[in-house]
Amino acid sequence: MSQKTTVACLREVGIPEQVVRIEEWELPALQPGQILVEPLISPINPADLNILTGTYGSKPTLPVVLGNEGVGVVTAGSLPAGQRVLAPMQLGWWCTARILNAAEVFPIPAEIPAEVAAMLAVNPPTAYRMLMDFVELKPGDWLIQNAANSGVGRCVIAIAKAKGFHTINVVRRKELIPELEALGADLVLTDETPVAKQITGKEIKLALNAVGGESARQIAKTLAPHGTHVTYGAMGREPLRLDNGLLIFRDIRFRGFWVSDWYRHATRADIIAMFTELRPLIHAGKFNVPIEQTYPLVKIREALAHAARAERTGKILLSMKAAAPA
Ligand SMILES: NC(=O)c1ccc[n+]([C@@H]2O[C@H](COP(=O)([O-])OP(=O)(O)OC[C@H]3O[C@@H](n4cnc5c(N)ncnc54)[C@H](OP(=O)(O)O)[C@@H]3O)[C@@H](O)[C@H]2O)c1
Repeated sequence: MSQKTTVACLREVGIPEQVVRIEEWELPALQPGQILVEPLISPINPADLNILTGTYGSKPTLPVVLGNEGVGVVTAGSLPAGQRVLAPMQLGWWCTARILNAAEVFPIPAEIPAEVAAMLAVNPPTAYRMLMDFVELKPGDWLIQNAANSGVGRCVIAIAKAKGFHTINVVRRKELIPELEALGADLVLTDETPVAKQITGKEIKLALNAVGGESARQIAKTLAPHGTHVTYGAMGREPLRLDNGLLIFRDIRFRGFWVSDWYRHATRADIIAMFTELRPLIHAGKFNVPIEQTYPLVKIREALAHAARAERTGKILLSMKAAAPA
């Protein structure tokens, strides 16, 4: 019997809530080595919005089922039925059933809440790699980041705290300060006053930039000579603004990071090693980012419009179970 799936798909790029479509697709027969997975929960990440608008770094062949991360449960194939799995960098989570290669998925223990598991493949690895792969930080070293209340920003705070690195965290709303301090942030600043003017006497080795424009420039100005500035997001949608002197007199190194590229070059052993190191933080709930609202898949248009709003109190999630026909 053929297996049907309800999908949120993209046939042509444009305004996310206008171009997304709910369709019924038929899945091909399961091949050896494949598994049938019923997605449970998936977040709407900035990358999903960028794929919909056609501004993401990779352009999937259309039509495509959307959703760049999530968690699902195996229902058939070469892995035990009932096993929860995630599959890093396998677009196609916004649906009620999908086929994956068993070799591409990673089992997730059932005791990890689905909402947490659904957001483990992108943001915690992004935070971890940026803290580990650019500068050799030692306990007591300082780093700075903007968009510090973002999903990635919160993971940076959690991982840095566990490793003994000190974080300076820039946000645009002062009501976020106590929340981030409770997560382990050493210093939280708003950008009302230029950030570089608010920081003195600290040797900052790493700056993580998810905003661009003036915000990127301000955090670059706080860096010690030979410090490294890593751009991984562009939420402000403005080009980087850099002072010549940061390069000439301080030799600040401007780098970029894309977790998709990391996964593309990573072996399965690399991925397992990373998650093994992150496991205690996962189990301690350190990556439990706030959730503002969960929508059923069929309400995808409302969910996308909500996810694009600024100043949310947390992530917007999609529940695929709620989308299944009664
Ligand atoms: N390169 C990679 O591999 C990689 C991987 C993961 C994520 N990312 C990027 O990292 C960024 C954060 O992702 P996320 O999933 O953590 O996001 P998120 O949890 O949805 O949070 C979005 C963040 O962006 C801030 N923001 C929104 N518009 C802004 C603006 N115009 N100026 C300054 N800040 C603004 C928000 O601040 P408010 O709360 O004040 O609105 C919030 O802190 C995104 O750019 C995403 O594409 C990159």
